[in-house]
Amino acid sequence: MRSVSVSPRLRSVPSSPIRKLVPFAVAAKKEGVHVYHLNIGDPDIKTPQVMLDVLKNWDKNPIGYDQSQGNPEFLEALIWYYHRLGFTFVSPKHIQVTNGGSEAISMALFAVCEPGDEVLTFEPLYTNYNSYAVVNGVTLKGILTSSDTGFHLPDRSVVEAAVTPKTKAILICNPNNPTGTVYTEEEVRMLVDIAKDHGLFLLSDEVYREYTYDGRKHVSLLKFMSEIPDRAIVLDSMSKRYSLCGVRLGALVTLNDDVLKGILAIAQGRLSSGLVDQAIAAKLTQVPDSYLAEVYDEYVSRRDVLYEGLKNIPGVVIPKPEGAFYTIVGLPVADSERFCQWLLTDFRDNNETLMIAPAAGFYATPGMGKNEVRIAYVLNVTAIRRCVELLAKALEAYKKTETRG
Ligand SMILES: Cc1ncc(COP(=O)(O)O)c(C=O)c1O
Repeated sequence: MRSVSVSPRLRSVPSSPIRKLVPFAVAAKKEGVHVYHLNIGDPDIKTPQVMLDVLKNWDKNPIGYDQSQGNPEFLEALIWYYHRLGFTFVSPKHIQVTNGGSEAISMALFAVCEPGDEVLTFEPLYTNYNSYAVVNGVTLKGILTSSDTGFHLPDRSVVEAAVTPKTKAILICNPNNPTGTVYTEEEVRMLVDIAKDHGLFLLSDEVYREYTYDGRKHVSLLKFMSEIPDRAIVLDSMSKRYSLCGVRLGALVTLNDDVLKGILAIAQGRLSSGLVDQAIAAKLTQVPDSYLAEVYDEYVSRRDVLYEGLKNIPGVVIPKPEGAFYTIVGLPVADSERFCQWLLTDFRDNNETLMIAPAAGFYATPGMGKNEVRIAYVLNVTAIRRCVELLAKALEAYKKTETRG
């Protein structure tokens, strides 16, 4: 009998560096150890009450499919949101509702690339871009950015040197996960110009749009959309803005009719996004401004506590995060994956430890990020203070095990 084997491409999908160490965390918890999770961007902030009330008052029976492009009320709510940001040219026909920002990214890659085509992005990168690239047969080409420049973009000549005949698009994340960098108007303008001059698509993942700190203004690709109507695609998500990670909803926004037509066909193939999910998210028009303001202030406080705490630990390198709720931190260790695992298996302080993500998986270039970790500041200020203390103690203790080993 012929044996079966899975496709080689299935084996080539990288497992998430954020979730890779989960079994060690589970084992630690089984021992009764308290594990602080700074490894994943699943915020502890409460979802707005007006959204939760939809669940309480639900009376539609049966819970059927919705329209493939998106629920009309949710689309109208998104229009309200984009118009409020000042982008009044956006209309429902420019939006495809997606199952999370994740599906928007995957659809966008499928829409602009044939298998084997290249997409430029900046490293460190949102790790799941690696998975979506493999699933869509796309080669992700990373252009390195460094903590020395706060992970800001390199000169135009460096970006242009990476363009080959196979390059189809540039994919950015702004504000950035995992670096916390917020690109300036000049940086976004530079990419718009490169997209124009080299015939490329520009995909902008803006799921953290609201989170820009110290007076920085977010520069959305929507601002340049009329200049490159066929090339600009904005990727969005409800997850982080309203603490709705479990409501799997996002959006793809573009003026390119061919892209919209094609991805609607994909959307029809997967029938619809969740009816209940969209009913919840459609309430975004009723979320009080005070909710968003409080969430914003909370992230600023968390960022400050983390930054002030970590920058004083010897050997730790942390540029001040400018936005989102992540940061890439350099540690005085040779192999951050081993260190992160050791935190879960060996390190205990008062029966507590912390979980952070090794940064190697946030690069497309092999060998990078070996002495870096990504930290998501998704816990309250008291917990973050404790995590800083735990990390300082852990680094001290680890130094001793490294010298012994
Ligand atoms: C930069 C970025 N893009 C997209 C996503 C996916 O978001 P969603 O939960 O909407 O699929 C995330 C989630 O963490 C993210 O950080």
